[in-house]
Amino acid sequence: MKKSINILFFLVIAAALVGCNNGNDKKGSKGQGGLSTNAAERVYVAPGEHDEFYGFMSGGFSGQLGVYGLPSGRLLKVLPVFSQNPENGWGYSEETKPMLNTSYGFVPWDDSHHPDISQTNGELDGRWIFINGNNTPRIARIGLESFKTEEIIEIPNSAGNHSSSFITENTEYVVAGTRFSVPVPQKDMSINEYKGNFKGALTFINVDQETGRMGIKFQLMMPGFNYDLSHPGRDKSHGWFFFTTYNTEEAHSLLEVNASQNDKDFIAAVNWKKIEEYVNNGGGTKVPANYAHNILDEHTHTATSTMLKEVLTVNPMDVPGAVYFLPTPKSPHGCDVDPTGEYIIGNGKLSADLTVHSFTKMLDAIENKKFDGEAYGIPILNFEDILAGVVKQPGLGPLHTEFDGKGNAYTTFFISSEVVKWKVGTWEVLDRQPVFYSVGHGMIPGGNSRKPFGKYFVALNKITKDRYLPTGPELTQSAQLFDITGDKMELLLDFPTIGEPHYAAAIPAELVAPNSRKIYKLAENKHEYAVLQDSDVRVERDGKEVHIYMNMIRSHFNPDNIEGVKVGDKVYFHITNHEQDFDVPHGFAVIGANNAELLIMPGATETLVWEPKQVGVWPFYCTDFCSALHQEMQGYIRVSPADSNIELSWSLGED
Ligand code: CUA
Repeated sequence: MKKSINILFFLVIAAALVGCNNGNDKKGSKGQGGLSTNAAERVYVAPGEHDEFYGFMSGGFSGQLGVYGLPSGRLLKVLPVFSQNPENGWGYSEETKPMLNTSYGFVPWDDSHHPDISQTNGELDGRWIFINGNNTPRIARIGLESFKTEEIIEIPNSAGNHSSSFITENTEYVVAGTRFSVPVPQKDMSINEYKGNFKGALTFINVDQETGRMGIKFQLMMPGFNYDLSHPGRDKSHGWFFFTTYNTEEAHSLLEVNASQNDKDFIAAVNWKKIEEYVNNGGGTKVPANYAHNILDEHTHTATSTMLKEVLTVNPMDVPGAVYFLPTPKSPHGCDVDPTGEYIIGNGKLSADLTVHSFTKMLDAIENKKFDGEAYGIPILNFEDILAGVVKQPGLGPLHTEFDGKGNAYTTFFISSEVVKWKVGTWEVLDRQPVFYSVGHGMIPGGNSRKPFGKYFVALNKITKDRYLPTGPELTQSAQLFDITGDKMELLLDFPTIGEPHYAAAIPAELVAPNSRKIYKLAENKHEYAVLQDSDVRVERDGKEVHIYMNMIRSHFNPDNIEGVKVGDKVYFHITNHEQDFDVPHGFAVIGANNAELLIMPGATETLVWEPKQVGVWPFYCTDFCSALHQEMQGYIRVSPADSNIELSWSLGED
């Protein structure tokens, strides 16, 4: 009971602080903004000039990934990942529908949380960015040449894929951890029997270094805690991975009280190299599973979905020395490792202090077998033995820590709504700045690597309140950009973001922009319905299916007159864009289609299905203003009654 009262007290304080901030905001924002300083100049990117960084912000409950320029905060693109996107037909076109296939069938939405950019030797390399789908557990890989989601793999035995997607320093693995423990395999059982029976799967997905292709190497079946966030070891701790846990009480109801009983939860330290070796030598147990692996081929422009039927599981008890628990106060959220790999920060969200563990001390304690009990057979290290230091009372509600590569750390405090800069090694607080409001994650470009680019800190705030013009009860989400090059952090800019920005990742533009794809070569188009030359243009009937093999170039469709289609037919428009110029996509839309437009990139082929329901002569048109004659880029398709015997015909430019 005492514990519950403590929690209540904490929440009262929290509410008071949030209220306090709301009252102070006008005061707080004055002198923080641009007019009294040269802040505006420092975020101003003149017309025609480019931003210094690409910033990738998770789209949260939009399921997508937003691409922003930094420091301007300009939204450059919304990359569709886990959700259908009518703007470019993602998940609507026949080619992309398989990307959203899962063991639950077609799932057109998810909750995307934590992007992480691929690395080589612990440095950002600009090849790929990964992001997790939280709700229906999935990991996506997006190519930073195409800026397209190229692959999505579903994670079996997982639920609430939250401690994901974080990558090891040579992109050997992208790691996904379950937030909710569940019965494995799933079965009908009483919820009351959770404790001791549910499992938490930590999934290690290996990444092919040539193609980026992902495959689940193994799943570590951990006790039924909640695995909240994770980070890889790096440099000296490369080979280890660290996961925060909460609900080590294994409560299954009223977690706000019941999962806050223990003074300390754990950070799970996983020696993945040791488990990899065990698995490579034939260790582990193959168990039946059912999960989708979806790949978009850049030559066929077509996705395929394969259901995989087996996964390799590893019981931590079978690999002695591979997993340890580091006691960490209190319900830690973020789990962050500094660029040297020595310090592991547990952001105990209900703790007054910030706990920092030492990797070196952890190894010593393991070597000397200084254990303080065990949980489900996994040794628990002694808190004092592995403690590197404590940042004393830095704020309330620490969530996440990032690093600038100059020996400083920046921790976000949700409850006291601030970012606190502190010194790694001495643990002294150097600076604090308020944020508006209730910051969750923070991000420094490359902050999750050996070599951060410590110029900016972006606060990813949970509450927007009065920072922008009101737009009814639903407000845009909010980020704030700080200059962190001086002793004091300096707020430069507020900018809105789509969905809820959870984590973000940023990379110098020069590592990505020169490789950005401009067109797809028509000659390399291997789509099975591509029309590479006008002589291949045709319309074919196969029972009630009609396939239209069409192409497009400024400013017409070929064909643009089609007859012989009937009510009850299923019409496939297979359209190839013959442009070979940068930034000349064409769109395609037809009246009454029960999906979205197509937006077809130069050299690519895409397919829209249309099921005409009404007799008539129906127009289709290009949706993307592509030339002075864009309005002329249109055509007609005649739909006759179901019993009509009008023959299929098609033409372009005939009277
Ligand atoms: Cu093609 Cu507008």
